[in-house]
Amino acid sequence: MEGRTVRIAVVEGDGIGHEVIPVARDALALLHPEIEFFPVEVGYGRWERTGDAVTDDTIRELASADAILFGAVTTPPSPDYKSVIVRIRKELDLYANLRPVWGKNFNILIVRENTEGLYSGVEKIEKDSACTIRCITRKGSERIARCACAFARSRRSLTIGHKANVLKSDVFFRDICISEARKEEVSWKDSYIDALCLDILQHPERYDVIVTTNLFGDILSDVAAYLAGGLGMLPSGNIGDTQALFEPVHGSAPDIAGKNLANPIAALRSAAMLLEHRAGDTEGARKIEEAIQRLLSRDVRTRDLGGRYGTREFGTEMLRELESINRE
Ligand code: NAI
Ligand code: MG
Repeated sequence: MEGRTVRIAVVEGDGIGHEVIPVARDALALLHPEIEFFPVEVGYGRWERTGDAVTDDTIRELASADAILFGAVTTPPSPDYKSVIVRIRKELDLYANLRPVWGKNFNILIVRENTEGLYSGVEKIEKDSACTIRCITRKGSERIARCACAFARSRRSLTIGHKANVLKSDVFFRDICISEARKEEVSWKDSYIDALCLDILQHPERYDVIVTTNLFGDILSDVAAYLAGGLGMLPSGNIGDTQALFEPVHGSAPDIAGKNLANPIAALRSAAMLLEHRAGDTEGARKIEEAIQRLLSRDVRTRDLGGRYGTREFGTEMLRELESINRE
């Protein structure tokens, strides 16, 4: 990304996306005044206004960026409305969803397969039944296993989360992960996903890199969010071979949207992940995290963390802190 203008697509999306993403974008702009940001509108709000939540043109615009900073989109529970983020992940082939969760004595990286499994989109509703196909392919499993093993090699170990005692598709997934781990000489173990959801809460220090299928990874990372202070705290990266999209783990939170209550930390950490993974700027990522830590230690917190700061007020403090760290 060096030597030419870096272009970042900024998608606020819906709900609290409009509140948390401006804070994250301002932090990036402060650290990298040279970045060119361009807004892209997708989501339920756009669908209500224009009848399209996302178009082929929007996907092309997103594909043309060096990276995407994404808020959250509302998906109404209607069978006619397809999830925008699921479509973007598929069309840009963002096959690895990286969800780090860390705390005092643990540092976990959940690597979730992001394009298939129960989110295959192959489904139908009939009068007396409904069916969703859980599609697990060799290609999809091998590339997510390779990605997880690459992280596990430079870290400690790999845990494969699955439900192979019941699902044939997970016997397939597990065996591919095991053979990849053997090939890469990564120390591995495997766990049933339901037991893993409990054990990660009781013994988070036992885990390092965890690889799992799409829906299981979605659930496991929300469970693990408990360890880190809630959904307002956790970032994620959706990574493909050519494009990458960074977004908070949380959704559009309609219950608090527009009330200046949302915690922007997950969005800020997503911006930090963007710097680290897309620009190789680990120092910039560290500065953002350092600023967050200083604010938390001064009790500058939003309401979900027991504080009294609004999103905007937290954002102002964040920029002030980041500016001072940047000068140190
Ligand atoms: P959600 O993550 O939006 O909210 C769950 C709960 O956590 C709510 O009580 C909310 O107020 C709280 N919360 C979430 N983020 C917060 C933050 N930054 N600060 C303070 N509190 C926060 O999940 P929910 O309610 O299941 O979904 C709401 C909408 O978001 C749905 O339409 C859903 O489809 C969509 N969604 C979108 C995602 C995406 O764009 N990647 C991911 C998850 C959900
Ligand atoms: Mg989720």
